[in-house]
Amino acid sequence: MKTKVLVVGGGGREHAIVEALSRDGALVYSAMKNLNPGIARSAQRYALVHETDVAKVTEFALASGVELAVIGPEAPLEAGLADELIRQGIGCVGPTKAAARLETSKRFTRRLLKKHSVPGNVAFGTFQDLESARLFVDDFPGELVVKPEGLTGGKGVKVEGEHLSGKGEVMDYVKEILDKRIGGAGVVLEERLIGEEFTLQAFCDGKDVRGMPLVQDHKRAYDGDVGPNTGGMGSYTDADHLLPFVTEDERQEAEEIMRRTIGAMRDEGAPYRGVLYGQFMLTRDGPKVIEFNARFGDPEAMNVLTLLENGFLEVCQGVADGKLGKAVPFLPKATVCKYVVPAGYGTESRSGRPVKVDEKAISNAGARLYYASVDERDGVVYTTSSRSLGVVGMADSIEDAEAVCEEGLKHIHGEVFVRHDIGKDALVRRRVEHMRQVRG
Ligand code: AMP
Ligand code: GLY
Repeated sequence: MKTKVLVVGGGGREHAIVEALSRDGALVYSAMKNLNPGIARSAQRYALVHETDVAKVTEFALASGVELAVIGPEAPLEAGLADELIRQGIGCVGPTKAAARLETSKRFTRRLLKKHSVPGNVAFGTFQDLESARLFVDDFPGELVVKPEGLTGGKGVKVEGEHLSGKGEVMDYVKEILDKRIGGAGVVLEERLIGEEFTLQAFCDGKDVRGMPLVQDHKRAYDGDVGPNTGGMGSYTDADHLLPFVTEDERQEAEEIMRRTIGAMRDEGAPYRGVLYGQFMLTRDGPKVIEFNARFGDPEAMNVLTLLENGFLEVCQGVADGKLGKAVPFLPKATVCKYVVPAGYGTESRSGRPVKVDEKAISNAGARLYYASVDERDGVVYTTSSRSLGVVGMADSIEDAEAVCEEGLKHIHGEVFVRHDIGKDALVRRRVEHMRQVRG
């Protein structure tokens, strides 16, 4: 009997999840808010619903008879979707609301790491009022990062020396967060880390973790790492599953930090089952935690899941059942993923514009296409305000994977743009050189 699986979400990440499950013979049922044509085509059935509408999504899951659910985005986790599905006897790849606090509360996470002496934490303070924040800021010897405590869609963090100049501007932003209640309530102040960022995603079964290939995302909208911050314009992985500036020892250190974090959650009575996304800064003192997300990254999921020709369904079952198997069979190949986004994305997206996609030509070029936040109406694909399509190249080297990705991108036309520098040798070399300087 084929396994029926619910996939929640309608972005590029979720299209990659649907394809990986389908390769393993699963029957997919999709709950999404936009009509993603790639997902719609592969799914047995789909429901167009708000992903945070726990009652409606659960009803669809029960009516479809699924035994497993993979939850893509963070908002349904915070709404308690995993709790409700588990209550109904459906296994979940995606943590409960209590376990998702690793993403939804930066205060919770920093305090957890401190309480359990998990390595890789930074100096920090958490505040609800201006006066105690001021005392901390006045006493702090170095540069600070200011973060709203809760979810802000990745846009609430400001870094002294980058977005904020001096302690006066730090305090102005603290006041703004508290006055306007940005991200709920409360503010986290933490030590500014210097280094190169990388992502380690891991499957977690409540007790143990299995790391995936390391990924580097690119948050700035335009070539050369300039322009507004975005959800991520593209990302790459290397054939050895490290990055050109990260050693195997450093990767293991990061994985150990995640294993210890999962152990701490278990001790706190909130075992974590799902994908844990670790955002790290590689500093001269090794990897430090920037933040955790309670899900796959987007675009990072498109990189790592393209590398899983089979075995994803099995690992999902292991996560949900609380018993992960041994190794996950990621191909020893490099990937480069670039997002096609609406013109204006990052400031004011031009949504509702048609995009021409020649699927056949993309496939002939050897590239993978994942539909993201687009809507299909009468056979035409339209942009929304968010990222439109992900194209992934896979090859033996980053350079070759980048070339395959670019060949695929030639067959997409519309009022859109792409960060073409991602995965190109010049950019990768710049990261390696920067890390060499940081190491001193
Ligand atoms: P976050 O939403 O926590 O991922 O933060 C967004 C971005 O802010 C990160 O990707 C980093 O580039 C930067 N950032 C966050 N925390 C720190 C830190 N402690 N030191 C330096 N940069 C940081
Ligand atoms: N690409 C970053 C994220 O998914 O949060």
